[in-house]
Amino acid sequence: MKNIAVIGSGTMGNGIAHVFAQYGYKVAIIDVAEEALKKGLSTIEKNLKRQVEKGTITEDLKLQALTNITPFTQLKSGVHQAELVIEAATENIDLKLKIFSELDACAAAGAILATNTSSISITKIASVTNRPDKIIGMHFMNPVPIMKLVEVIRGYNTSDDTTNLVMDLSRNLEKIPVEVNDYPGFVANRILMPMINEAIYSLYEGVAGVEEIDTVMKLGMAHPMGPLQLADFIGLDVCLSILRVLHDGFGNPKYAPCPLLVNMVQAGHKGVKSGSGFYHYVAGSKELKVASQFL
Ligand SMILES: NC(=O)c1ccc[n+]([C@@H]2O[C@H](COP(=O)([O-])OP(=O)(O)OC[C@H]3O[C@@H](n4cnc5c(N)ncnc54)[C@H](O)[C@@H]3O)[C@@H](O)[C@H]2O)c1
Repeated sequence: MKNIAVIGSGTMGNGIAHVFAQYGYKVAIIDVAEEALKKGLSTIEKNLKRQVEKGTITEDLKLQALTNITPFTQLKSGVHQAELVIEAATENIDLKLKIFSELDACAAAGAILATNTSSISITKIASVTNRPDKIIGMHFMNPVPIMKLVEVIRGYNTSDDTTNLVMDLSRNLEKIPVEVNDYPGFVANRILMPMINEAIYSLYEGVAGVEEIDTVMKLGMAHPMGPLQLADFIGLDVCLSILRVLHDGFGNPKYAPCPLLVNMVQAGHKGVKSGSGFYHYVAGSKELKVASQFL
């Protein structure tokens, strides 16, 4: 496999394109928004430059990786040569179903169509295509060039051939793929989101404060970051939407999102991206300050 297409040049799309280009694949990166495409390409260049400065890649490899990437704004022209397409567009089910039905029509008949979705059913996405055996989840972690895991998710009809190809391909990128089945939240978010929700419940019920909860998990469980800080990084709106997928998908009240989380998202306190969540964020400052509501 040589030709890859990545749909979406946001946080995840540019990271995925970066890694494939670094490992010698020809990458078409496609975004509907011209601005997002420019920003994605400049992020890739900046991150490759940082790798050169750290001595993890050479200047020549950086230049080669950059020439391996071609930007597109049209899906059809971007995917026509691809043997594997990885969709990393905005997390919205209607959008993903539309993209996959278009992809099925315009990608090569033998191409594997993967999605980087955090929470949408692979089986549901496969159901709008005529190649359910070639639809698979390839869930990279953020930041893609650094994080080793790829959660490889088999839909109900994903074939062994497709799964084995994607597992091998992930290893070619020096990632560690883990095969899981398609149930709500897969494995990563099924375990992570209830932990974050429980941390928010502990705050809501007054068991302890923001810093105390995060400190317990950092020092007691050796987590590099506390669950409330991690929730701010992921985005509280994203956490809420994944919890809703778990709650709806399993019909089990244990996944019900904490009312404090719901309120915070409704009030626009979405974490790092909005400047405030459990902590307060000032652009350019690395200091971690608890948000005034929780002092
Ligand atoms: N951010 C994370 O930490 C993370 C981690 C794992 C998985 N994911 C998943 O990765 C996917 C992308 O997330 P993100 O954080 O990179 O989002 P993002 O908002 O940073 O980027 C999404 C990009 O998709 C583009 N887009 C929207 N519609 C499109 C279309 N029809 N065709 C092409 N491009 C289109 C947007 O212009 C935007 O640039 C989501 O499914 C998300 O759940 C995100």
